[in-house]
Order: sequence, then C-alpha cells, then structure tokens
Amino acid sequence: MKKTILLQTLLFTLLASQFSFSQPKTIAERLKWWQEARFGMFIHFGIYAIHGKGEWMRHDEKVSNEQYQPYVESFNPVDYNPKEWAKLAKEAGMKYAVMTAKHHDGFCLWDSKLTDYKSTNFSCKKDLIKEYTEAYRAEGLKVGIYYSLIDWHHPDYPHYADEHHPMRGNEAFKNAKHDWDNYLKYMHGQVKELLSNYGKIDILWLDFSYGEMRGEKWKAKELVDMIRKLQPDIIINNRLGGDGVVQGAVQYGDFETPEQGVPETAPTDENGNIKPWETCLTHNNHWGYHNADNNFKSAEVVIHTLVNCVSKGGNLLLNVGPDAKGKIPQGSVEVLKEVGQWMRDNGASIYGCGVAKDFPRTEYARFTQKGNKVYMHKMYPTVGFIRLKDFQNKFNYIRFLADGTDAPYDKRFWGIPESQGFIFLNCKRPVWETFSWPNKINTVLEIELR
Ligand code: GLC
Repeated sequence: MKKTILLQTLLFTLLASQFSFSQPKTIAERLKWWQEARFGMFIHFGIYAIHGKGEWMRHDEKVSNEQYQPYVESFNPVDYNPKEWAKLAKEAGMKYAVMTAKHHDGFCLWDSKLTDYKSTNFSCKKDLIKEYTEAYRAEGLKVGIYYSLIDWHHPDYPHYADEHHPMRGNEAFKNAKHDWDNYLKYMHGQVKELLSNYGKIDILWLDFSYGEMRGEKWKAKELVDMIRKLQPDIIINNRLGGDGVVQGAVQYGDFETPEQGVPETAPTDENGNIKPWETCLTHNNHWGYHNADNNFKSAEVVIHTLVNCVSKGGNLLLNVGPDAKGKIPQGSVEVLKEVGQWMRDNGASIYGCGVAKDFPRTEYARFTQKGNKVYMHKMYPTVGFIRLKDFQNKFNYIRFLADGTDAPYDKRFWGIPESQGFIFLNCKRPVWETFSWPNKINTVLEIELR
C-alpha cells in the first residue's frame, strides 16, 4: 500500500514537472530577467575592425567581396579574450551582452556548417562565438547573439537594386540572378545553428528590416516559430519587422530597439501601457572599431543615459567595438570601470526599477522606482533647495543610497508655513551652509514611501 502511494506520488511529481516544462512562458515572464537587468553590453566585432572605419565601411566605400578577401584571410585577433570582456562587463554593472555572430558583411564568427566564410577558417581558426558564450555565462551574465538579416557576401542576397549593398548600382551585377529562397534557407539555417549548438541563448538580436525587406519577406513567422521551439525562453528584438528608427513593429519580437538616443517618452501600446524597449547606443560614434574616433561618452553621460532609460521603463545596451586584435578600446575600458563604481553604490536604483509614476522628471532630477522605494537621481545642477511639494506625510525616510545616511531636509523655509506640506531637501541648518551633493555625477536619494 505504502509502496503504491509512493509510486503514485513519484509519478505525479514527474508528470507535474513535465507539465510545467511544456508550458510556454508568457512574454512578460520571458522578459522579466531582462527588465530587471536594465544594463547590457553590445559588442560589434568582425573583419571590419582591421579597416578601423566602422562596420559600414564596405557600404560606404563600395568594397567588393574580392577586395575584402585579403582582410578576411588575415583577420587574426590574437588578443581575443572574451573572459576579460565579460569581467569588464560585470564590473561595469552590466547583466547581459549581445555579440555580433554575423554582421552585414556576412562573415561568420562561429563554425557554421553552411559556409566556409567563417572564423574557424583562415588565420583566425577559432569559434569566437563558442568562446564568447562560455566566457559570459561563466561570469553569470546572460548571453545574446546579434545576427544580421542582411548579407553582403552571399551570392543570393540582392546586389544591384538593393539600397545598402556595396554593389548597389554596379552594372556588373545588373543582370545577376539571385535565388531569394536559397538565401532564406541559408539565413534560417544559420539561426538554427546558433540556437542549437551554443547552449542557452537568452537574446536573439536580428538586424534589420528596410523597404520591402521586412516581415514575411524574411519568412518571419516561420523563423520565429523555429526560434521559439529551439529556445523557448529566448527574447527577440523587433527588427524582423522594423529598424531602429521606425518604432512599433514588435509583432514578430518582444521588445523595441530605439537606436542612438533615448525616446522623449516611453513607447506605449494602444492601451497606453509601456512596451518593453531598449536603447542601443555606441560608446564613441561607431559600432565597429574606429581607430580615429575617440569621442567616448563620459561616465557621466553613460550614467545619465542609463537613468534616463530606466526612468522611462527601458534598458540601455551600450556598445563596445573591439579592435582587430580583440581588445576593447582603452577609452571604453576606463569609462566602464568608472560607471561600475557608481553602479556598485547605486545599482539598487537601476536593477528591477522602472517608472516612478507619481514623480515626473524635473530640471534637476530623474526618478526611478521599485515597490515603495523611489530613487531621486540628482543629476543636474541646482541652486538653493529642492522642494518636494505636498510630501510631508508621504515617506518614512529619505537617505543617500550610496552610504545609507539620512539626507538633510526641513519642513519649513522662511515664509512658507509647515502646514503647506513641503519638504525642503538640503535645507536643514546648519547643514545647508556647507552642503554639497556627494556624487558629482549623480547623487541618488532613496525615498521610502509610506
Ligand atoms: C544598424 C546598423 C548596424 C548596427 C545596428 C545596431 O542597424 O546597420 O551597423 O549593428 O544598427 O543597432
């Protein structure tokens, strides 16, 4: 009898666990870790690093496959060490990464069985994606893969009439035949490889759609079905249907991808709910390595941008463009470390935080919120006191997030009677006479709401 009950329980547990495995997660469930993570590292790495002019160089200078070939053959990133990159990302407070497995130039950084145009051939001889996925996972970071829908190397991708192809308008290709279905087979096949051979992939970042090259032209539905089958928990960006500028096309994916800027207001659906979104941003002015572009955004700009995104319910995916040897530029390394110091003390105001709906932005601050904790990011200069209107009975404490000390405030200021409910931050005598905001970049105040 006892034995039967035991067996039944065992069977039941087994079935129950099976059942819960086969339940597909909702979009919100799949996005949960990502919306808590808020900050990730984008990595644009490839042959184009040798030219040092960014990853659109082939387009800009109309470079043919033949002209590109010597670079393909000599690409040998001897200093490629994704373990170091992963450590840096972690130190910066980033929680995930997305790396280019194939960019528009078509060169594959993994051991694709569908092409010889890959890093395991030629001088490089390494599966760079394998090393990347293993290194980032080992640091506890989530792993994303960028895959270009566009391919300037494949013979079946449109050349002459395409608006971006390096051979656009080139008479030599005017009458060339391209077998589009064959390209789709290749593209779908490569996505399948990437999602089958490298363990759990957390994000698939497809790039990008334009003109008629969007949606079903890519056989998007079929592709997404396959992706979800192979990696049920994966999240996919919106670019099967759109690009970084045109918003809205998330029907094939899970989140929006505004590029090179923070939207004025968060993107919302027809019911006014904020859609999941992530700003992707270059650190200097290029995605791929550029040897003359030292215009790296300061730690201050990066932190302010991150806060700005989170205060509107979004993420920030900040790019690094490693050089041809595989090193992340020093300009990025230094800034990321500085960002990391701020994150160490103030990460609680970023991770898991979102819009503070009762605290609209002011000229001196942005606000983020998690549960009953509101974070005031005092990022911009102020003169005099900061007034919180109608606030006297609304909080338990106001503290500096970085060290947990009470923030100085008073309930009175000159002619304003206490009964009006104001809180005057940094106003308490004698503190205000010597007071200066402790963090020049962004002092965070933690306000616990009542
Ligand atoms: C654009 C560019 C590309 C870059 C990407 C990042 O689509 O074509 O070079 O990889 O944006 O968002």
